[in-house]
Amino acid sequence: MANKPRIGIFGCWRGLAMAKYVSSSGGEIVAVCDHNPARLEDGKKYLVEGGVAYSNFDEFINHEMDGVYVANYFDQHVPYVIRLMERGINVCIEPICGSTMAQIVELVRAVEKYRDRAFFMFGENYQYTPAIQEMKRIYQSGKLGDLLYAHGEYVHPASAAERTRLAPGPNHWRNSLPSTYYNSHSLAPLMYVTDTMPKVVMAQAVHSEDYHRGVARMADPFGVMMTQMDNGTVFTTTGCVSGSVHGNWYRFACFRGGMETVRYDESVIAVRYNSFAKPEGEPRYNAYTPEPPFDADKSRGSGHGGADYFVVREFIRCIEEGTQPYNDVYRGVAMASVAILGWRSVLEGGVPYAIPDFHDEKELLKWEKDTRSPFLDANGSRTLPSMVRQDWTINPEDAAAAKAIWDDPKLFTDYSWPGKELGK
Ligand SMILES: NC(=O)c1ccc[n+]([C@@H]2O[C@H](COP(=O)([O-])OP(=O)(O)OC[C@H]3O[C@@H](n4cnc5c(N)ncnc54)[C@H](O)[C@@H]3O)[C@@H](O)[C@H]2O)c1
Repeated sequence: MANKPRIGIFGCWRGLAMAKYVSSSGGEIVAVCDHNPARLEDGKKYLVEGGVAYSNFDEFINHEMDGVYVANYFDQHVPYVIRLMERGINVCIEPICGSTMAQIVELVRAVEKYRDRAFFMFGENYQYTPAIQEMKRIYQSGKLGDLLYAHGEYVHPASAAERTRLAPGPNHWRNSLPSTYYNSHSLAPLMYVTDTMPKVVMAQAVHSEDYHRGVARMADPFGVMMTQMDNGTVFTTTGCVSGSVHGNWYRFACFRGGMETVRYDESVIAVRYNSFAKPEGEPRYNAYTPEPPFDADKSRGSGHGGADYFVVREFIRCIEEGTQPYNDVYRGVAMASVAILGWRSVLEGGVPYAIPDFHDEKELLKWEKDTRSPFLDANGSRTLPSMVRQDWTINPEDAAAAKAIWDDPKLFTDYSWPGKELGK
């Protein structure tokens, strides 16, 4: 590719955290889009000379771009992704790859339909921390032997005020986020290290009154999924959960030994071999902070433990080289299926759900009409419960505390719906 890849950013909150790495990855930002005027103003700072800031997606999409980083609302990525790919624009998206089973089917069909025009990448970041990249190298060397079990945790507690600011307005997706839905930060690193795909999920969630004090949120603080993988192993993973303190932990239990990130310092990994299986020349126990396999200088200090840089780099590399990313649509929708069907499992007392293989037309037909969603629609109603305590209501004091924060004029609480712009 003669010129630098021209990148657009759709959604200037998380999207700007990723915009920082476009130029060090070899691209340039030619357009940004956000309907929140303050965020759009922030977005302008990342534009190349002559770049344009749009408040409207329909105008943004007409800009000449090679790729768009999609960081709009969690539950609304799919309709915009389809519009972008239809125009031949490559996309990289933030979690989740479809917030209903019907959206997943639409996404898979669109990616296949427009495959010759554009590629789809799921921009999950945690699989690219130096620790996970190093654990992939070790696992794939075979020295730890067969994997039996793996565990991933994404713990992100916050004060009531912070949670309320992050979820501006009663309709915001974070206020209806079931505890299994934000699962890719836990699951993607395990799938990446082991090159496996999920086959069956069963899940449980936990309610806490403490968690609800001072917030107007219809969601649980903890959800755990147990997933059988296509190599016969079992993974346990969480959604974005609130138990204990902030951090990510990953553990791989193999027959000859194990490795894990160290609790409360996730940049460090600990690798240990059983006495009967120690490979020649390897220490029996080693704990160290690995460097990334390449671009150590460029990625140092980048968001999420150095991982964010590598997502942007992978997106831009695929545009430059015309190759498919590791996290293609099938990996992305497998994670989304674990999230969504894991939640169905929770609502049904933990029953197992098979994860569909969306290469199979029968599975596409089976799920194409399943639009059930825990998120509020334009009329303020949902078609699935978003928390385990289905009798839960927000008490007036908590509602008032949240409203006091949302009334801040600097917060943009207009949670709009894709139908408005997508002509639906
Ligand atoms: N990978 C990570 O570590 C990480 C961290 C934070 C957020 N995220 C993801 O990023 C996405 C966005 O989350 P967020 O934290 O930025 O919060 P958010 O969802 O509240 O913000 C979305 C932004 O997109 C804008 N937007 C939404 N719809 C729009 C539309 N139709 N037209 C123009 N602008 C629109 C909003 O104004 C807002 O600025 C979500 O998918 C979330 O899961 C990922």
